[in-house]
Amino acid sequence: MAERLEGKVVVITGAGRGQGAAEARLFARAGARVVVTDVREDEGRAVAEELGDQGLYVRHDVSDPASWATVVKEAVHAFGTVSALVNNAALWRTAHVERQRLDEFEALLRVNLLGPFLGIQAVAPVLRAGGGGSIVNISSTAGLVGIPGHAAYGSTKFGLRGLTRSAALDLAGDRIRVNSVHPGAIDTPMVAEAVAGRDWSHVPLGRIGRPEEVGELVLFLCSDASSYITGTEFTVDGGMTAA
Ligand SMILES: NC(=O)c1ccc[n+]([C@@H]2O[C@H](COP(=O)([O-])OP(=O)(O)OC[C@H]3O[C@@H](n4cnc5c(N)ncnc54)[C@H](O)[C@@H]3O)[C@@H](O)[C@H]2O)c1
Repeated sequence: MAERLEGKVVVITGAGRGQGAAEARLFARAGARVVVTDVREDEGRAVAEELGDQGLYVRHDVSDPASWATVVKEAVHAFGTVSALVNNAALWRTAHVERQRLDEFEALLRVNLLGPFLGIQAVAPVLRAGGGGSIVNISSTAGLVGIPGHAAYGSTKFGLRGLTRSAALDLAGDRIRVNSVHPGAIDTPMVAEAVAGRDWSHVPLGRIGRPEEVGELVLFLCSDASSYITGTEFTVDGGMTAA
């Protein structure tokens, strides 16, 4: 299936580690050229270097509009176009709603929700010029159900779901598809400390997910195999929210 993303240029935010890095590797193996963006310069550069001619690292803060302009400019300069955007970068912090700090709430809002919004604004014109494309917003099961301690994070992830549906309707006429992906617990550096030694018997599939298991779904949504799918939510959580 090496042809699944042949000819595609995909921008993945926060791809220096975790799910974004796994997607960068998976997508390159499927034939894509990948723009790896992250605030973590060493990690981001290392992932892009692994991909050889198919990889480009751009230092990027998703909450900064000027930084998005740089990403689009560098992507087009290096690879000629952009075919898909994965809004993956995010911050995770938890606190009881009464003890949630305002500065942290605002930081999560800026990275997890404003970031993808700015990304859609920055990338849509290039996708449109290329005849269409795909935008995948990485939300969370915390964007589908309430979870204790997730007042800030959950608000941003529920918000991302609303942004996805609205943007999908605004952009459908340009053949730009916008969907959201809702991972459950996935084994990445983001949650490493919180999940260490945990029992997974509450998950119907009985284990934590692997980054590649989210990546396969995101790959499908970036590929032409999902050409009639837009404005939709996809859960990848081992069955956790099925009950
Ligand atoms: N791991 C999980 O259990 C889990 C569960 C549900 C949803 N998610 C979501 O999946 C996505 C990927 O998470 P992950 O688990 O791979 O996390 P991670 O922390 O391992 O990776 C996230 C990356 O985003 C980058 N980043 C943070 N702020 C940034 C900014 N302002 N600009 C650019 N890059 C920035 C980080 O440097 C990091 O490399 C996130 O949207 C996260 O909310 C993760």
